[in-house]
Amino acid sequence: MLKIENLCKRFGDFTALDHLNMQVDKGELFGFVGPNGAGKTTTIRIISGLLRATSGEVWVNGMRTSRNTKKLKESIGYVPDTFGVYDNLKVSEYLEFFAAAYGIYGKKASSRRDEVLEKVGLLEQREMMVDTLSRGMQQRLCLARALIHRPELLVLDEPGTGLDPRTRRAFRRTLKDLCEEGYTILISSHILTELSDICTSIGIIDMGKMVLQGQIDEIMLSIEASNPLLITVFRDTDRAAELLRRNPLVTRISIEKNKIAAHFTGSREEEAELLRELVEAGIPVTSFVREQTSLETLFFHLTEHEQEVSVFEFESGI
Ligand SMILES: Nc1ncnc2c1ncn2[C@@H]1O[C@H](COP(=O)(O)OP(=O)(O)OP(=O)(O)O)[C@@H](O)[C@H]1O
Ligand SMILES: [Mg+2]
Repeated sequence: MLKIENLCKRFGDFTALDHLNMQVDKGELFGFVGPNGAGKTTTIRIISGLLRATSGEVWVNGMRTSRNTKKLKESIGYVPDTFGVYDNLKVSEYLEFFAAAYGIYGKKASSRRDEVLEKVGLLEQREMMVDTLSRGMQQRLCLARALIHRPELLVLDEPGTGLDPRTRRAFRRTLKDLCEEGYTILISSHILTELSDICTSIGIIDMGKMVLQGQIDEIMLSIEASNPLLITVFRDTDRAAELLRRNPLVTRISIEKNKIAAHFTGSREEEAELLRELVEAGIPVTSFVREQTSLETLFFHLTEHEQEVSVFEFESGI
């Protein structure tokens, strides 16, 4: 649905995007995460055709965005990081205005207007003036506006800014519903945890480069596989440690009282086998888990600038 290859953007001497690669497949809810100034808005503006890239290519639905501006606008619904102000319009008029901009008029425009208002939960506010809406409602109106021409790809730039946690959560729920309906969605944020519970995939951008991207489940599995196994025993710690040391898949262990941390390179099945061996040897194991890493910890690690960041790339077609 969206493919970005070697995208570069320079503002004078400053490099905002540095050979950025990214892929979002159809039906995905893709979280585009990075600290302030990482290059999210710049990327989104290029995807939406509002800014020209210095070099590199962006494809939406197989079309090069640099060559198909009109068709591109029909395929994309863009929610910018700031609201437009059209103060003296009613909600319904505001949406009809945008429908007309896409060549949708009359009955078709009214039915499309009500359809999107219903989707975003603003049908009851149809007759309200835009400037009397709360910030959360304005956000929903922006989303309704982006949906008016039934685009295939929705691109949202930091839509949660200035909203309270409950409103943000409700907004995320709406996005999830839209994704389940078949929309492909790219949403940017500098808060990873906001996105990790709704997104199917994420891309982490830092200083104009993609430092990690892939499906959330795969990323979590891959991070956890490199974490130690934390084994707690009721007694017989020495015997448990001895058994672990003899296992060729255990590369290192550390012991603290009755807790053993074992670096284990085996598969999930081999992990289960290890537990069985311990239990069969009569060792009273009270807990046996992989140490957890949150995505947030990983995010901080990857966007830490004092040290070189390593580039992970998970299978996502790039
Ligand atoms: N028109 C411009 N002229 C010069 N520099 C710019 C311009 N637009 C963006 N930049 C710079 O490019 C970098 C990336 O900016 P961008 O707005 O894309 O970041 P962002 O990830 O969206 O950040 P935020 O989370 O704060 O919204 C920043 O250092 C910014 O100052
Ligand atoms: Mg931004």
